[in-house]
Amino acid sequence: MSIMKKILFTLLLLIPVLTATARQRQLFDAGWLFILGDKPSMASPDYNDASWRHLNLPHDWAIEGDFRDGNPSGAGGGALPGGIGWYRKHLTISEEEASTLKTKKYWLAFDGVYMNSTVYVNGKEVGHRPYGYSSFQYDITPELKVGDNVIAVKVDNSDQPNSRWYSGCGIYRHVWLTTTSTLHFDHWGVQVVTNAKGDVVVNAKYTDESGSSLRPLLRSTVLDASQRVVATKEGSNATLKLHVSRPHLWSIANPYVYTVKTELVIGGRTVDEVCTTTGFRSFRFDAKTGFWLNGRNFKLNGVCEHHDLGALGAAFNEDAMHRKLTRLKEMGVNALRCTHNPPAPELLDMCDTMGIVVLDESFDMWRRKKTKNDYARFFDEWHERDLSDLVKRDRNHPSVIAWSIGNEVLEQWTSTGSDELTLEQANMILNAGHKVVNTDGLHPNSILTKHLAQIIRDNDPLPEGKEWKTSFRPVTAGCNEPDPGNLLFKSGAIDLIGFNYHHQWIKDVPKNFPGKPFFMSESVSALMTRGYYPQPSDTILMAPSRWDLPYTDPSMMCSAYDNTHAPWSATHEETWNAVKHTPYCFGQFIWTGFDYIGEPTPYGFPARSSYFGIIDLAGFPKDVYYMYQSEWTKKDVLHLFPHWNWLPGQTVDMWCYYNNADEVELYVNGKSQGVRRKSAPEPQEEWYRLHNRLCLDSTEFHVGWRVKYEPGEVKVVARKNGRVVRSEVIKTAGAPDHIRLVVDYDGRKLDKGIDRPMADGSKVSRQHLVFVNAEVVDKDGNVCPDADNQIFFSVDGATIAGVDNGSESSLERFKADNRRAMFGKCMVIVAPNEGAAVSLKARAVGLHDATINF
Ligand code: GAL
Repeated sequence: MSIMKKILFTLLLLIPVLTATARQRQLFDAGWLFILGDKPSMASPDYNDASWRHLNLPHDWAIEGDFRDGNPSGAGGGALPGGIGWYRKHLTISEEEASTLKTKKYWLAFDGVYMNSTVYVNGKEVGHRPYGYSSFQYDITPELKVGDNVIAVKVDNSDQPNSRWYSGCGIYRHVWLTTTSTLHFDHWGVQVVTNAKGDVVVNAKYTDESGSSLRPLLRSTVLDASQRVVATKEGSNATLKLHVSRPHLWSIANPYVYTVKTELVIGGRTVDEVCTTTGFRSFRFDAKTGFWLNGRNFKLNGVCEHHDLGALGAAFNEDAMHRKLTRLKEMGVNALRCTHNPPAPELLDMCDTMGIVVLDESFDMWRRKKTKNDYARFFDEWHERDLSDLVKRDRNHPSVIAWSIGNEVLEQWTSTGSDELTLEQANMILNAGHKVVNTDGLHPNSILTKHLAQIIRDNDPLPEGKEWKTSFRPVTAGCNEPDPGNLLFKSGAIDLIGFNYHHQWIKDVPKNFPGKPFFMSESVSALMTRGYYPQPSDTILMAPSRWDLPYTDPSMMCSAYDNTHAPWSATHEETWNAVKHTPYCFGQFIWTGFDYIGEPTPYGFPARSSYFGIIDLAGFPKDVYYMYQSEWTKKDVLHLFPHWNWLPGQTVDMWCYYNNADEVELYVNGKSQGVRRKSAPEPQEEWYRLHNRLCLDSTEFHVGWRVKYEPGEVKVVARKNGRVVRSEVIKTAGAPDHIRLVVDYDGRKLDKGIDRPMADGSKVSRQHLVFVNAEVVDKDGNVCPDADNQIFFSVDGATIAGVDNGSESSLERFKADNRRAMFGKCMVIVAPNEGAAVSLKARAVGLHDATINF
């Protein structure tokens, strides 16, 4: 046989082996068994799991529990239970499938398990992962056999406290089963880099376990949003360069995404294939002018978000997350900081298609712990893996524009604390086996900073050439030490100077950090309870008065006027004033968009969720939502508050947020209370001086009136050029009469932009949710602002996934069929049965029922 023939012959023999399986990725969420408890034998395939509970993932067992003062997570962690739980799933491998086990790979991928998970297949450990926010994948092929296979996952969240907020417990994100050929792309092995000129560089890493010496061809194809091929290239190297002429740019207003299909090809046949979402955009951060996207300069109006989904706990659901992002986007949010850990992958998919830029964050602590059992104990061994996995997983997203190596890590300061890194340790831990970091007199904590930044740069490399500069993702960290002596800043490795709070230091930034882009990585931390309006409203309250002092108030609430904040922070208006009028501050990430479970500053138990949100835990906007909407969007805003149910003669402060008008006038039962105009911008210094003296009548962001209450109605009218352009009326509500049900969000009807077909043409089937608000109203339909009726829900064609009312201190369970209204409102989350028509009924003692069909 000639050499050519021999090669051809080998090729023909190998093709069936290599093409036995193209990649198939399926959701592996359904049909798991669960028990809260722990025995080593639960890993064993023979363990009798017949009595275990049946459930589908994602799942969070803590959210099903009761709030208790004694729960070891503490109120800071949400006061819900922890413990150890086991999950098992039986996977049947047929004779036919078993016969392909030598030519096929089975990969089991977990998007997130909190925490300390160990995965066993047929009793054999296949992997362990301490960090509860990392995504990871195991090769389970060697352990599989014909017949019943048992996958067992131990989840250990018993060492508490280990978080400063509610973490959740369990396999709380999706699980995927992927099969590939023995010649396959590595996990997150395909990197796609683009620029605004339409250049695309694909770097692919693959592994060949087929035993063949044939080199595959790499092929990439770029498809536009209508799946039209706009570029294709193939070659035998691991890197391909493509070009899309006149690409649609990815922007906040028009987040146009392309798909890059990358294939490994042998003998003309595709052996493996992955699809990557990408977008073409240029961005840069400028020390003088701030953020630029595609040549447009604007502020990043961002919020920080934890991962919990309120009443659903940590259990991820696309609809619940999409509802959050939609509400934030409607407020004018264009940026999100995933605090303080890797987010669910689908969150980034949604930001890609919704037009929200992301600051992707890794850790809340490094070596020095913040709570007794937190990630600090795993940092030395795991940080490199966790950080590089985050970057590899997320680097292709057009929405991701910067990386954060940490939040308020205690390594910002020198300390004599026992857990500080010595120089010797630094060299051992950081340099052994890595590029040697230049220690040039740097403090070990600065060396650590450099090391972490380097891990990011190594995993998010850019192609050579200056045309790629505008795709460079900088490294930052949320720092609550604004002094240039901060050891993270001193490392020189921080590209973007990010202050957490300390807006009073903004004015010194150009002097202290010459040439460095700057932003408020975290800001505000104001405190508010939706619907609670203690009078008067014009005194600023710091709660507590010092960070280490207790704060008590029998209400367990905080005023919904923008006048209360934590000692390290400021009101919304004060911070926005500073950010808005500082051209070199490229934006802020407000703490927080939504309330979250845990960290109930300023209170302790029974408070168990935060007061920081612009939107409450149930999804009801607090009033300040409209301040941002009036500033950050072009939508017409006229928002008057509070309600109009007081004691006759009582003095009430009425506030109003508005835009697109010259003036507003307030009327009580037809009598004018005066015309107000928002004031011109005040110089920052002046603003700081005025701190603690809030101006009720008018600021740059709101106007107000102090009025005497009389039953009837209060009305605000907005005028532009002397003409009435909008008005809003609030009426005194009568006695509670009936319940009104309103669909707030129906996930079945909305395209989340993430449901593109998989490589094999199938679609992922996702659990949809419908959020329904229940309002207690009088006979004329006015919301009764003091109503707290217990509302009972029942549903046909669906199950109830959770209930909430936004209270930070209610100890009612989230997993229930009833909820007390708070200030007239509560809500229920309904999970419709596939294809079913749903009928939801709400009842309460003394009120007329309500039914809604959807
Ligand atoms: C910051 C911290 C956040 C949160 C916030 C509350 O210092 O980064 O995680 O704790 O304070 O104000």
